[in-house]
Order: sequence, then structure tokens, then C-alpha cells
Amino acid sequence: MLLHIPQVLSADEVATLRARLATGPWVDGRATVGAQGAQVKRNRQLDAASPLARELSAQVSAALWRHPRFVSAALPRQVLPPFFNRYAGGEQYGEHVDGAIRFLPDSGQPLRTDISATLFLAEPESYEGGDLVVRDTYGEHLVKLPAGDLVLYPSTSLHRVEPVTAGERVCAFLWVQSMVRDDGQRTQLHELDQAIQALRARVGDSAELVSLTGVYHNLLRRWAEV
Ligand code: NI
Repeated sequence: MLLHIPQVLSADEVATLRARLATGPWVDGRATVGAQGAQVKRNRQLDAASPLARELSAQVSAALWRHPRFVSAALPRQVLPPFFNRYAGGEQYGEHVDGAIRFLPDSGQPLRTDISATLFLAEPESYEGGDLVVRDTYGEHLVKLPAGDLVLYPSTSLHRVEPVTAGERVCAFLWVQSMVRDDGQRTQLHELDQAIQALRARVGDSAELVSLTGVYHNLLRRWAEV
């Protein structure tokens, strides 16, 4: 499922984050990829080991964990601390699939990347190009979202970032290991959860909604790894 989640960060939060990012230590984006990625990745990345990156990364993580739509869609078991990147002057990231396993920075514990996510931090009209292009069986999807908005997509997807030909594209990006590994099962759970919540808001609680909520939890119990 490719899912757009609006306003994970408010305009004020984005502005504060951008001001802090501008002061940061930026390094070659190839620091965090394998051999195939290094051949096609051209951008800059906030030095993930820096105190600033750790602080801002923790802020973005906290915003994700308190966002009900993110939690419903991703069913996160673990979220890798977000990274920050910027593209300008023709920089781009050619077609690739994200590595399957990453390691948590402090514990070294492995994390399976089920979901890839990009949080946009620059308004789309402030730069040209820079679309995230995600390919699935329905073709190619171009994603360029308002600042503060998030996109989730399965980490199994081939994807790329188009060259940024004017202005600057600034984003946070991250990976999630989900309690529900399979994208199809996770999508069904999210749709069921959203439908239950919408029905409850529209008609109030009822025996049928209690039953549907039971079905949701019993499917989650069947499919979740915790
Ligand atoms: Ni990628």
C-alpha cells in the first residue's frame, strides 16, 4: 500500500526543524547505502552520528508514534531513527530497492525493513523535480507532498528520486519493521480499522461494531509478530 498521511508535522514544527537542519553537519548521502545504492545515489545527508541528528530524529520519531494514522497503517514494531537528506543542483537517487536489514544505532539490533517512509520538509513549489517515484504492479506513482506530510510504501518497491533541477528538496526518511510483515495483510487491517472508526463516528457504538472490532483484533492476533 502506498499511503499519504497529511500533517504529521505542523507548519510551525516544520519551520523549526528546517532552521535547525540548516545549521547541521551535512555529509555525502552514500554513507548509508550498499554497493548498488552508492552507484545511483547523489545527495547529502545530515551526519547521523551528530548530536543534532539524534535530537531531530527523536523529535520526528515521537511525532510518528503519536500519530494515530501512522500507527494504524504501519503497525510498527520498531522504527529506525529517521535520517535527513537534501537534494539540489541536479542531485538525484536512481532506481533501487532499499536494503532488507538495517541496524539500530545504539543496540546494533537488526531491523527488517517492511515499510519505507518519506516525510517532506520543503513545500513542493519551492523546488523543481525531486518527485519520489514508486513502482508497483499498477505502474509508477509520483509523490511530491506538502511540507509536514508523510508517504509510506512497501520497502519491496523499486523507487527513485528524480533530479532536483531548481531549489532544494529536504526530507526525513525512515524504515519501519511492522508487527505485520505482509503488506496485503497490513493493508486489510488498516482498511478495516479506518472503516470501523468512521462507522463509530457516524452511527455510534453498536453490537455489530463490537463484533467488527473483535474481528480486527483477532486478525491482528493471528498475523502479528511481537
Ligand atoms: Ni530508497
